[in-house]
Amino acid sequence: MGRKGPRTEVLGEDFIERRAKARERLDAFDPHKQPGGTEADPKRREWFETVYSLAEDDPAAVPWAHLEPRPLLEDWLARHPIAGLRALDVGCGLGDNAEALAHAGARVVAFDLVERAVQWARERFPESDVDYRAADLFDAPKEWRDAFDFVHELYTLQALPKALLPDAALALASFVAPGGTLLVISRARDADEEIGGPPWPLAKEDIEALAVDGLRLVALEDIPAKDVVGRHWRAEFRREAGA
Ligand SMILES: C[S@@+](CC[C@H](N)C(=O)[O-])C[C@H]1O[C@@H](n2cnc3c(N)ncnc32)[C@H](O)[C@@H]1O
Repeated sequence: MGRKGPRTEVLGEDFIERRAKARERLDAFDPHKQPGGTEADPKRREWFETVYSLAEDDPAAVPWAHLEPRPLLEDWLARHPIAGLRALDVGCGLGDNAEALAHAGARVVAFDLVERAVQWARERFPESDVDYRAADLFDAPKEWRDAFDFVHELYTLQALPKALLPDAALALASFVAPGGTLLVISRARDADEEIGGPPWPLAKEDIEALAVDGLRLVALEDIPAKDVVGRHWRAEFRREAGA
């Protein structure tokens, strides 16, 4: 049995055990965990689809599902008002972070590549004002261009192969309206640190490379590892009004 963390207390030991088993099963299936397996599923679509379908409605089997908003987002929201803003949650999974944005008063669109994830989020929050959609970051609806005052991305970039990051950066930037903000939260690593992955924690240069298409990096926090939670980046980008 691994070290007990705060999540064990909240989710329960049974949940944590089911999660560990699901991870083993998913890792065994993931071509990116096998040498030379990347070509088989370059965008990891098949793997993401498989995560949600194998889960059979058990959130313990969705490795990133914590059934509550992530603390680094909540902490940021406590200090940055977003009420009334048009917000977009990228790779929304089961919806907890999107719900936090709505709770903070934003008008939220949240999307995920996997239809089952989107349905599941809708089922979990039937009274929600969040507009949950199935969509692909790399082929998003045209009307989302420049359409959001606040774009939030948490843990999706680190789940994508590095070769996709330049296109992901352009896609994220395209959603941000003039005067708008992009917030990115991800696991962090030093540039020369060996990483296994996936997930692939981002290096500082990966974060800086998200400042494309008129976006400027305006704040970058390097948040050290604490208890069972690893080191993170929390990065804020802005598009100048009129840019
Ligand atoms: C690591 S999970 C993080 C989920 C959520 N942000 C969270 O923190 O709970 C990454 C999510 O991005 C979704 N995803 C992967 N590729 C995507 C793409 N090209 N477009 C939209 N969503 C994608 C996956 O289905 C998955 O739900």
